[in-house]
Amino acid sequence: MNPNEFKRRRKQLMRMIGKGNIAILAAAPQCIRNRDVEYPYRQDSDFLYLSGFLEPESVLVLVPGRDHGEYILFCRENDPEQETWHGRRAGQQGAVETYGADDSFPISDIDDILPGLLEGRQKVFTAIGRYPDFDQRLMGWVNRIKRQSRSGAHVPYEFVAIDHLLHDMRLYKSRAEISAMKKAARISIAAHKRAMRLCRPGLHEYEIEAEFAHEFRRNNAEHAYSPIVGGGANACILHYTENNQPLNDGELLLIDAGCEVEGYASDITRTFPVNGRFTPAQRDIHEIVWQAQKAAIRKVKPGNHWNDPHNAAVRVITKGLVELKLLKGNVTRLIKEEAYKRFYMHRTGHWLGLDVHDVGEYKVGDQWRLLEPGMVMTVEPGIYIPAHSKGVHRKWWNIGVRIEDDVLVTRTGCEVLTAGLPSRVEEIEAFMTEER
Ligand code: GLY
Ligand code: MN
Ligand code: MN
Repeated sequence: MNPNEFKRRRKQLMRMIGKGNIAILAAAPQCIRNRDVEYPYRQDSDFLYLSGFLEPESVLVLVPGRDHGEYILFCRENDPEQETWHGRRAGQQGAVETYGADDSFPISDIDDILPGLLEGRQKVFTAIGRYPDFDQRLMGWVNRIKRQSRSGAHVPYEFVAIDHLLHDMRLYKSRAEISAMKKAARISIAAHKRAMRLCRPGLHEYEIEAEFAHEFRRNNAEHAYSPIVGGGANACILHYTENNQPLNDGELLLIDAGCEVEGYASDITRTFPVNGRFTPAQRDIHEIVWQAQKAAIRKVKPGNHWNDPHNAAVRVITKGLVELKLLKGNVTRLIKEEAYKRFYMHRTGHWLGLDVHDVGEYKVGDQWRLLEPGMVMTVEPGIYIPAHSKGVHRKWWNIGVRIEDDVLVTRTGCEVLTAGLPSRVEEIEAFMTEER
């Protein structure tokens, strides 16, 4: 992403923070997997949003109006020996020249330098509570200034959660962000197609999962979240991630997998028959979910509120379940009683961006948020009928269907970023027949 994009974001945030105040954000800590092995490092999304800087052990400081530079980046020093073992570092020169910092200091000097930056500021904007160790260090720096207050040092007197300002910015995607999200969508679509092409009875869930790793990595992308590859009964487990069971003839396979590009996520679910042909019962359920998704997507447009797509999906699903006699009674009353929750227990979507469940308020006060151009959300209705569901004929058992696409709110309506991947019964069957 162009460095100017990050600069623009920092300027916007600094305007909101105002002169006389300071913002401080820490990079994500590294996490131990076992003994001396770490999990793959992923930068904190807020930190990434403002800096584009991918290294751990870094601290970003914004001081609007500071004469000697408003953007200070603390990061690791260049160190030939450490870099031989653990990889390259930008160092102070890289922080300034590549990442646009006005000034950069070694992270090892932060205890000496940060109190000086805090001194005389009024409000400190930070991600309060996100990294408790960092909160504590911040208090330590403030206490250092307190100890000097008798010599006239001014101690900041207000700590403000930066989330509200920053997360509202992150909710509206720029052109550069949308372009990264479109790229993530394209790669994820290609991976889902590989899975549909390869799938057949006798394979295992992990063999299908491997297709995603292959397609993502060959495009320099990575999983945005743990992939769900659930055959048969596993399709009814919402967060199934073991992905280690055989795929059987006559069963459905639900795959929820998406990659991230430059930190930006895609999030796609498709459900298709392991053998390429839906049974009549699977087809009925899949068609209801597809219709529900279509009705929900139609509600994604400026001026509608966050819950409109969900309400539309709930109506189609409830009506469909009544027609199939899986629910009995009056549709409006069943919706009011939330009877559908037995088979559709999650919501129809979430914001999407640097985090798969992205930041941004869903309600403003006690009102659902109005949709505005630049917001990106998922639309992902589903129906799940586990085996032995009471009073449910066995032909419906183990049918779990979710269809999930990524949708950008535009000026005139919406754009489905993940269109182009078969999603309706006929499209899936045709694809699985022709492409295999
Ligand atoms: N993949 C997580 C979700 O669909 O929300
Ligand atoms: Mn999702
Ligand atoms: Mn998903």
